[in-house]
Amino acid sequence: MKSSDIDVLIVGAGAAGMMCAIEAGKRGRRVRVIDHARAPGEKIRISGGGRCNFTNLGTSGANFLGENPRFALSALRRFTQHDFIKMVDRHGIAWHEKTLGQLFCDDSAKQIIRMLTDEMKAAGVALSLGVGVKTVERAGERFQVDLDDGSRVTAASLVVATGGKSIPKMGATGWGYEVARRFGLRVTDTRPALVPLTFEPGLLEQLKPLAGVSVDAVVRHKAPKEAGPGRPAKETVFREGLLFTHRGLSGPSILQISSYWREGEAITVDLAPGRDAAAEILAAKTENGKQAVHTAVGHVVPRRLAEALCARENLSGKLAEVGDKKLRALAEAVNAWTVKPVGSEGYRTAEVTLGGVDTAALDQQTMEAKTVPGLFFIGEVADVTGWLGGYNFQWAWSSGWAAGQSC
Ligand code: FDA
Repeated sequence: MKSSDIDVLIVGAGAAGMMCAIEAGKRGRRVRVIDHARAPGEKIRISGGGRCNFTNLGTSGANFLGENPRFALSALRRFTQHDFIKMVDRHGIAWHEKTLGQLFCDDSAKQIIRMLTDEMKAAGVALSLGVGVKTVERAGERFQVDLDDGSRVTAASLVVATGGKSIPKMGATGWGYEVARRFGLRVTDTRPALVPLTFEPGLLEQLKPLAGVSVDAVVRHKAPKEAGPGRPAKETVFREGLLFTHRGLSGPSILQISSYWREGEAITVDLAPGRDAAAEILAAKTENGKQAVHTAVGHVVPRRLAEALCARENLSGKLAEVGDKKLRALAEAVNAWTVKPVGSEGYRTAEVTLGGVDTAALDQQTMEAKTVPGLFFIGEVADVTGWLGGYNFQWAWSSGWAAGQSC
């Protein structure tokens, strides 16, 4: 059997794994990165609609979820969004702020992958693609890893950077969780996050005509009191776009709230933020009672949405023919629509996995397992999940950088 002895073996050539490899390589460590995919950074390539939302100017601990949301702080402070922007600038990659501090490449996400692979080359890192892991054993102080190409690698450090379970058809496996468990580390419950939410068939039927309609919205969610670890006690609120789909709801505000929502719980949606639908509709009734109800509502929300809301509330005809109480109920459906999704679209479309390797088992400075010296978990595989908007890549860069200083 062909075997090699190195300092650091990193499994996963995604955002976190490549950043870690660069830093460890710069320290003179003999580093090899392996990935079962045929190309490095596949999720980077498809991210941000092909332009990669690579960080967020406003990144802080407040943008992350997990059983201990403060765990991420140390790494986020050691390698910040500004450090990553400097790296991007050094490589001459043009970028712009789209909205809410979200930074995107002007041209292509491939530029970020190229930057990372160039930096790995410069740092002397070996990259093996199309190679998976068969077994991992502890051999004294070292790790003995048998690869599925029939070779064996022994390394002082093993860095698990295999990401989460989202988009299985792109190579996501959940393998990192198995390794954690094998070495006695707890893995918190995992579930799809940053994912569209789905409705039961009856509600879907009512909302069918709305598929494709998008609005600016405020979406709210409050977890029940007994919700358990990692679930904030206070209400969570996002104001971003919302899209009606053939299955339920999507758009940034819904993806954001999906990380907080659980089956059986309701969300409340304001479909006309900053507008008082009741006041506007009642004023319209006073001014011109002959106006059709759906026309008046259509001045507050898009016409198709107004028509569907009126149909759902069984309101047709002129404003003057409808009592104020009913108009107020209609307005409530605009400003405070409370709805219970039945599920989510799952890992097939989820941008990230919520939960992962218990951060209580990891050193927050280095990402090393407290009870297994030399074993590191970085990026999405750990129980740190960011909001939509570049936060998840920033976590990958920061945690990869942190591990790269000590693996
Ligand atoms: P990542 O998943 O990137 O990499 C893991 C690597 O490990 C993969 O290359 C995989 O092939 C490999 N691997 C897995 N199992 C293995 C095994 N058993 N053996 C060998 N290799 C294995 N975030 C953001 O901040 N801005 C954005 O714009 C977007 N956009 C976006 C779009 C879409 C469609 C998705 C699905 C996700 C995003 N994200 C995002 C989230 C972001 O992509 C994600 O958080 C990071 O890629 C996580 O980086 P990691 O390096 O931890 O895992």
